[in-house]
Amino acid sequence: MPVEEAAIQTRTLTRTFGRFTAVDAVSFRVERGEVFGLLGANGAGKTTTIRMLTGLLRPSGGEAWVVGVPVHSAPESVKPRIGYMSQKFSLYEDLTVAENLTFFGGVYGLPRRVLAHRRAELLDLFDLTELANRLTSQLAAGHRQRLALASALIHRPQLLFLDEPTGGIDPISRRTFWRMIAGLAEEGTTVMVTTHYMDEAEYCHRLAVMRDGRIVAVGSPRDLRREYNAATIEEVFLAIASTGGGS
Ligand SMILES: Nc1ncnc2c1ncn2[C@@H]1O[C@H](COP(=O)(O)OP(=O)(O)OP(=O)(O)O)[C@@H](O)[C@H]1O
Ligand SMILES: [Mg+2]
Repeated sequence: MPVEEAAIQTRTLTRTFGRFTAVDAVSFRVERGEVFGLLGANGAGKTTTIRMLTGLLRPSGGEAWVVGVPVHSAPESVKPRIGYMSQKFSLYEDLTVAENLTFFGGVYGLPRRVLAHRRAELLDLFDLTELANRLTSQLAAGHRQRLALASALIHRPQLLFLDEPTGGIDPISRRTFWRMIAGLAEEGTTVMVTTHYMDEAEYCHRLAVMRDGRIVAVGSPRDLRREYNAATIEEVFLAIASTGGGS
């Protein structure tokens, strides 16, 4: 089975809540170093998919391998190897920027010296050094989001899950954020990201469009635009929404 080579591989991954199927037999593959976007309207099943892949939610059916770990049978083993910035990410408001990084480093059991080095590196990378001693509750939205990303990266994960990471931040901060994501991918980190901003979808190497718990289209932005004879991903998205999707 070629699953070791993929960053993520799922086979008919499914999650039901009572009689309702939130994720319906989804199969896809994400290569290492790819920035893979998950698009879909509210309730399409994006967060539920990510929660299964991060080992937080047990699948009702199917299988998923994340960085080689079978999360359907060993959900705990994946956690040290991935970073997760959740849709409603939580930072500790009454801690400073540096203290938040220290806290998350502790969660992953980083030795003190390694943690100090990594913290300084991330503060520098995310342009937060000057704010290191600022209380998190006093940060602007763009800075909070950068701190949340830095916290998710403290243990150098191979794979990063970002669930609507740019909600509520200004266009300049969004662009800076995406430049950072591109930099991470160039260094070999795989990124799976959800967004409602169609311009951001263009930054992804490949996209999957979800609707009612199913993946209805997958491909590079260029391939999808061509397939749907559309000028933008927004047009692709609207075409899928109005026609009921692809195959
Ligand atoms: N714990 C739960 N119990 C019952 N239903 C749930 C639960 N979690 C999610 N759902 C339902 O599953 C569906 C998919 O939800 P999910 O959060 O995955 O969507 P989403 O694509 O992330 O949407 P959004 O863009 O709004 O974040 C929704 O109809 C939601 O109400
Ligand atoms: Mg969601």
